[in-house]
Amino acid sequence: MLGKEEALEKIAKEVLNLTTSPLYEYRVENNYLPVFGEGSANAEIIFVGEAPGKNEAITGKPFCGRAGKMLDTLLESAGISREEVYITSIVKDRPPKNRDPKPDEIALYAPFLDKQIEIIKPKVVATLGRFSMEYIMRRYGLEGEIKTIGELHGKVFQAPNFKLVPLYHPAATVYNQRLLGTLKEDFKVLTTLD
Ligand code: URA
Repeated sequence: MLGKEEALEKIAKEVLNLTTSPLYEYRVENNYLPVFGEGSANAEIIFVGEAPGKNEAITGKPFCGRAGKMLDTLLESAGISREEVYITSIVKDRPPKNRDPKPDEIALYAPFLDKQIEIIKPKVVATLGRFSMEYIMRRYGLEGEIKTIGELHGKVFQAPNFKLVPLYHPAATVYNQRLLGTLKEDFKVLTTLD
């Protein structure tokens, strides 16, 4: 059986070769990279964003642009180090002009996220934004509890193999400064779960 790191590398290669993706041509035309995810293969917390932005697609690293700086601030405020967690997103290629991911794109990339969760076996999945929240809730038997992110952020849900904590997307603070305090409070919840 493959170790966790090798198992992750194997599916990262599959994403790299995902020529059937509607985002593949855009990736190649722009010399972009897919953003598979990064962090500890033994992480207790996985953060799941939406899709890579431009900086992420250029570097191949998740959350390294403006939203990433905000994520770093939030992790620091909760006393969580970036190295100890795993950071990824549902859609692993940049959608043109940072538009919302389309349902067919989510459907195509989500099985890779499922595999990442299966390999890493985190205690907590923290979703960043409504797309990852809704996907994870549907996929892991919590569809009956789906409400708006305004209603569910910072709450803790029990999925079969992990706890889910829906969080606002860090980029939301760019447009709404008041959310920063809310996000800081919600990030603290992550440190109270065992
Ligand atoms: N937004 C995301 O959801 N993921 C990133 O990596 C960057 C911005």
